[in-house]
Amino acid sequence: MAEAKVEFEVPADSVVVTCTAPVNIAVIKYWGKRDEKRILPVNSSLSGTIDQGSMRSMTTIIASKSFEKDEMSLNGKPENIGGSKRLNAVLNELRKRAEDFVDSETGSVLIKKEDWPQYKLKIISENNFPTAAGLASSASGFACFTSCLAALYGFKEQFPGELTTIARQGSGSACRSLYGGWVKWVKGERDDGLDSIAVQVADENHWPEMRVLILVAHSGAKEVPSTSGMETSVQTSLLLKHRAEAIVEGRMQGMEDAIIRKDFAKFAEITMKDSNQFHAVCLDTYPPIFYLNQTSKKIIHIIHQLNDLAAKAGKPPVAAYTYDAGPNAVIYTLQENLQPLLNLFSKLYRPADASEAATWITDPMNLVKTDGESLAQVDPEWATLAGEPASGERVYNVIVSKVGPGPKIVRKEHSFQK
Ligand code: DP6
Repeated sequence: MAEAKVEFEVPADSVVVTCTAPVNIAVIKYWGKRDEKRILPVNSSLSGTIDQGSMRSMTTIIASKSFEKDEMSLNGKPENIGGSKRLNAVLNELRKRAEDFVDSETGSVLIKKEDWPQYKLKIISENNFPTAAGLASSASGFACFTSCLAALYGFKEQFPGELTTIARQGSGSACRSLYGGWVKWVKGERDDGLDSIAVQVADENHWPEMRVLILVAHSGAKEVPSTSGMETSVQTSLLLKHRAEAIVEGRMQGMEDAIIRKDFAKFAEITMKDSNQFHAVCLDTYPPIFYLNQTSKKIIHIIHQLNDLAAKAGKPPVAAYTYDAGPNAVIYTLQENLQPLLNLFSKLYRPADASEAATWITDPMNLVKTDGESLAQVDPEWATLAGEPASGERVYNVIVSKVGPGPKIVRKEHSFQK
């Protein structure tokens, strides 16, 4: 994906910081809060961090005395910071903890911590997700906003994971985007939320064969936002209560163990069961919430057929699907099955029209072959099992990715006279 290089006007005696942060896809889902204000979850969750080579949020913050007020833009449109409790919560938490701004070369103090209130912020945030993807951006967006402010204010953690307790107040799932690799969000027990933190289970190099395919089945239709959806689930779903009390902790242990031992069969089973249970909770919510569409259900069916076929041949499963608050399928698979899976989905869903086909696969890290000849190599048995898509089933775009690192500071400079 071409990176739009934006140059910013930086006034004299100002500081500029740019950060990028990743998306994460949960394999044990967060769904439901026990405290709406602090964003404390009813259960722990665990996710893979998606490589920023395919998708990421980017935030630049300029701090200057010459600005009259804090201002923010998101994807080029003005965003009312004052009107957002969550943006304010994160901003205030980090402002409270601001340290002196020190010139990294000379060591001299350029902004004393007590002078920070005079510096207003210009915040420019953008996501580079493929248009029409309909992918949630609150996790990467808030992780990026938090990381960028932390870099600006020289934030120092008082305890491990403290920054994740701040990102969490922007959006729950954002706390897991502060680390690369595999990350758990431990629900914690305390009312003040200080033990509700994200912890890295394994870094991005631990399971290098792991790959991710995102099949975009989102049609732009309005869905129930996760924040309000989970609120209704907490109020009405007995299955959610049972899940939080009796199921998730066991799954968390099983999943952590599967990741540490790189046991794909166990990983895949827990991932699919947990996604299914989350969508069962949505159905158990009153009134019910439906996130999966016809295409999503077909993909679930296909993956189970492929996994059954592999099992009959004494092989581990081919792939695991998981779905968030929308119909897009996220498929975790290992490198050896990535191209065959892409070829199958390409046969089923790639538009015949040549120009559309060229942009149908988004693979900026060149993890697969996308020429017609390679894509045509479809396993005949797989193709027979999968059948033909029914009318109305569509995959708009496929994003090919892997598990990657956490947020990055890409720029930290000042324009004070040297
Ligand atoms: C289905 O983190 O978007 O993606 O805390 O209200 O901002 P808020 O919700 P959010 O919920 C994500 C829910 C999910 C599952 C997950 O990522 O674990």
